[in-house]
Amino acid sequence: MPTKLTSPKVSNRMKQFVDNALPALPFWDVCCDHGYIGIAALKSLKFEEVHFVDQVPHIMERLDKLIHQSPHLNPAYNFFLHISSGENLDMDIYGTILIAGVGGTTIIKILDSLFERQYLKANRLLLSPHLDEHILIPYLESNPISKLYTLTEKILMSERRRIRPLYIYDKI
Ligand SMILES: C[S@@+](CC[C@H](N)C(=O)[O-])C[C@H]1O[C@@H](n2cnc3c(N)ncnc32)[C@H](O)[C@@H]1O
Repeated sequence: MPTKLTSPKVSNRMKQFVDNALPALPFWDVCCDHGYIGIAALKSLKFEEVHFVDQVPHIMERLDKLIHQSPHLNPAYNFFLHISSGENLDMDIYGTILIAGVGGTTIIKILDSLFERQYLKANRLLLSPHLDEHILIPYLESNPISKLYTLTEKILMSERRRIRPLYIYDKI
């Protein structure tokens, strides 16, 4: 039976991620799930390439179909799907890395692993924890990563009557 695919609904929160990513460089949507943020990034034509990362294979299969069946997306756009946990990515990450919609402990796990294996070369980190913010921020202030990145801005976004933070860190 064919999979029913719904077209992406880009919320104001998702739009802010794309708006705050650095242009003309790669955009990494890590923990992408539905992929709507990365798709909005693709449609913006603002980035050199867009990478979608999620550890759940069926999520990525669905996203692959969604991208290929979307009438508004040119399959020639430069995008890559990675069925992987963020912490197991094994390539250099340049441009902007977005990690949103997961807990602070997951964000720490991903950043730590990329940093330790010297893959974390992003110019900008966009971090939007939905839990454990109180663990993430002290970690980013004290960890060796704090010598590479500085907090540029914290934005508060509302979505479905919830306030979500977006932390923007830039390479020093
Ligand atoms: C709530 S969704 C977030 C979707 C999107 N980032 C957003 O903010 O709307 C969380 C997604 O993170 C994925 N995920 C959780 N831990 C992960 C990890 N360590 N590496 C990659 N993906 C992960 C889950 O499979 C799930 O699809």
